[in-house]
Amino acid sequence: MVKAVGYIDGQISDLADVRIPVADRGFLYGDSVYEVFRTYSGIPFLFDEHYQRLLNSARLIEMDIKQSKQEIISAVKRTVRASLPVTGEDVYTRYQITRGEGPIDLNPGLSLQTRLVIIVKAAPQWNQEFYDKGLTLAVPKLRRNSVNSLNPNIKGGNYLNNIMALGEAKKLGADDCLMLDEKGQVAECSNSNVWFVVGGKLVTPAGGNLDGLTRRSLISLLTDANIEVVQRPIHNEELTEVTECFVTSATRELMPVHALYLVDGSRIDFQAGGGQQTRQAMNIYKQMLKDFVKENKENAWF
Ligand code: PDD
Repeated sequence: MVKAVGYIDGQISDLADVRIPVADRGFLYGDSVYEVFRTYSGIPFLFDEHYQRLLNSARLIEMDIKQSKQEIISAVKRTVRASLPVTGEDVYTRYQITRGEGPIDLNPGLSLQTRLVIIVKAAPQWNQEFYDKGLTLAVPKLRRNSVNSLNPNIKGGNYLNNIMALGEAKKLGADDCLMLDEKGQVAECSNSNVWFVVGGKLVTPAGGNLDGLTRRSLISLLTDANIEVVQRPIHNEELTEVTECFVTSATRELMPVHALYLVDGSRIDFQAGGGQQTRQAMNIYKQMLKDFVKENKENAWF
């Protein structure tokens, strides 16, 4: 069984024993960037794309990452292997760079040493009902941070906005939130991107959301299969015209949505297990993962 382990300052230990100094800016201010990826048959999926996105997040918050790419890769690999996965098991890996430890002062100064922290545990086993039937989403009153305040492409360590929106959705009896921006346009869920079928077409919001790597790979797979994907702003008033809905993320892959609570409390139901276009997209994605494993055996980390 995969052991949950963590890495900090060069040391790997059981996750429960990993400690971060209280003066670390990641702890104090959420002043950090991170990525989450998983393995399939021991092969890291989209590792390079995740690393590039981490660099982009760091650039957006003007963080100069002191660890080299080689240092990060070798620490991540070492931690993955220390979780002792065996054939047939897969791992979830979260690696995070904080701006480091220093005076308790919002101004970081220039001399801080960024800190690498890694968490590895078993790949999540989601409730099977989330795939067989689907999620319920609710649109909370709380809005997504304005893109002018916090660029959603900063995958940073402060998720308070999403945590509060998720809490509101949970109180409404939903599994996750569907967040709107300040203009009332759909942004994303608490930690996944959202897709709809509107007027028979697959649409996913353009702007206001993280450039999700699952979303990005699905767009390219569907485009290759001659299935049109429209990326455009989607106003919440359009949600009454939605006929299918699903979410995407590295850990969830594609998950259908079977019910959506709108901001006025009304509920829209979709086909359990996803409508035709959702199931088609799920199958295309699943097939791509099978091919990925077949073609990348030599890249397995364990
Ligand atoms: N979350 N939007 C947000 C706000 C996210 O946090 C995530 C990822 C996504 C989907 O991105 P990707 O397809 O690259 O996983 C969209 C990860 C899984 C997490 O924080 O656990």
